[in-house]
Amino acid sequence: MNQSEKTFVLTTPLYYVNDVPHIGSAYTTIAADVVARFQRILGKHVILITGTDEHGQKIQRTAENLGKNPQAFCDEIVPSFISLWKLLNIQYDRFSRTTATNHQAIVKEFFQRVWENGDIYLGQQIGWYCVSCEEFKEERDLLSGNFCPIHSTKKVEWRDEQNYFFRLSKYQNHLEAYYQSHPDFIQPITRRNEVINFVNQGLQDFSISRVNLDWGFPVPTDPKHTLYVWFDALLGYVTALLEPEAQPNLANAIKTAWPFNLHLIGKDILRFHAVYWPAMLISAGLPLPEKVFGHGFLTKDGQKMGKTLGNTLDPVGLVQTYGSDAVRYYFLKEIEFGKDGDFNEVRFINVLNADLANDLGNLLNRSLNMVKKYSVSNSLSIAPAAIPLDNPLRTIGSSLGERVKQAYESLAFNEVCQSVMQLVQSSNKYIDEQAPWSLYKQERQAELEVVLYAVLESVRLAAYLLSPVIPNISSDIYQQLGWGIDFNNQKESEITAPFINHATWGILSNEQELGTAKPVFKRIELHKED
Ligand code: MSP
Repeated sequence: MNQSEKTFVLTTPLYYVNDVPHIGSAYTTIAADVVARFQRILGKHVILITGTDEHGQKIQRTAENLGKNPQAFCDEIVPSFISLWKLLNIQYDRFSRTTATNHQAIVKEFFQRVWENGDIYLGQQIGWYCVSCEEFKEERDLLSGNFCPIHSTKKVEWRDEQNYFFRLSKYQNHLEAYYQSHPDFIQPITRRNEVINFVNQGLQDFSISRVNLDWGFPVPTDPKHTLYVWFDALLGYVTALLEPEAQPNLANAIKTAWPFNLHLIGKDILRFHAVYWPAMLISAGLPLPEKVFGHGFLTKDGQKMGKTLGNTLDPVGLVQTYGSDAVRYYFLKEIEFGKDGDFNEVRFINVLNADLANDLGNLLNRSLNMVKKYSVSNSLSIAPAAIPLDNPLRTIGSSLGERVKQAYESLAFNEVCQSVMQLVQSSNKYIDEQAPWSLYKQERQAELEVVLYAVLESVRLAAYLLSPVIPNISSDIYQQLGWGIDFNNQKESEITAPFINHATWGILSNEQELGTAKPVFKRIELHKED
């Protein structure tokens, strides 16, 4: 049960398979991949868990409406998630499907523990249910006409049935104490406050079984009931920890990598992760996750995205048109993680052109070309130690690694990008001010060498620090600087560019043979109709 300091386990939600993935699922998964890549270059053994949530009424009904068997329907949808993750360059370690054969054994054993702890009882569930949310709603929260506040075109359904309940109310004090003693457990702070307010109002037990539903696991103690999809789904995180050949039991699942370091989720499923899930874990005698981060919602052109408005954004088309680095960069740079954010294609193109094509791409291009033009050899002829301590780029670069590390660790991806871009912009400005072309003409070779070194080293550092976000571009930059390093290939024993060495300013060596300058990001032209 002792998680080694060197392990970092994080999860995305397990996505419903009622439809192919949308941009919201892509958003969480990109963020998770960036965190995973960053932790890997820090030297951690990372387990990034993603997957699909396949049981419950919502999936059963969708399959039925299409005249399909639910399992066959799920099997058809799951590959669209896997292929989107590939397109987006997501390096996940485990893909957890709640219909996997080893999952039922984990759910059964977990249920048994909670049952033996006296936390499950039979009661009457009366209230409004939203099948799209798979959640009971308070009457006061409904839109007029009994529509769900989240799925505004879906009517909630009245339920009055016998269900098994989980004794959530018993954990009120325990949870409150946990939130107090672990101020970083729920992030960002606004979400933490929401959860604390909710819990302070008094927790009610929630039902964990359904009747008249076949698509799910039977309740182990009473097979006429089917387990509630959320009870089953959250445990999908646990099943994902099993080694492929291991016997499916809790002891094996939690053996090496427990507790979870980070659950990344959208704000709509915060209550499940920050209230229900920890209470379930306490009941089963398991240590709680370190952090739950609830990000905001994406809108398109300022409007909520949805099928009814016909303004959904297809992640596959976006990546096929602009490439994975572009999509990853835009969402992480432009939206403060935790807040809602917007997608607008003109803005998207402008940001990418400004940052990746102009600022970063041109900096590399002009710096490399200047070395070729003004140096006698194809390498820099100055050693890093010769750069004056007060060189402006050295000054910024020296503290950048640490600042960026803190930003990654607090999931402030926009700050990561902004801080790195500051160095890039300062480098372009520095070239303009120092005018290496006139230093060359005036034969001020020593000063010229300092300028060339400072800008090339800055572009290297920028590429390194952005490598979790834009791994393809960073690899290209590194290759042009003469390194055979591929940022898509940084796993455990194969880490060729550890943070501890590469995040400091001044590692570019004068012995390094530089490569040929090639554009790393082509300017995107706006379509005429825009
Ligand atoms: N199956 C549950 C999760 C179970 S986890 C054990 C579920 N699935 S979901 O597919 O409906 O949603 C997955 C994630 O997508 C949620 O974190 C949700 O917040 C996120 N998003 C759905 N629409 C979104 C946007 N428009 N913008 C950003 N994220 C959004 O809930």
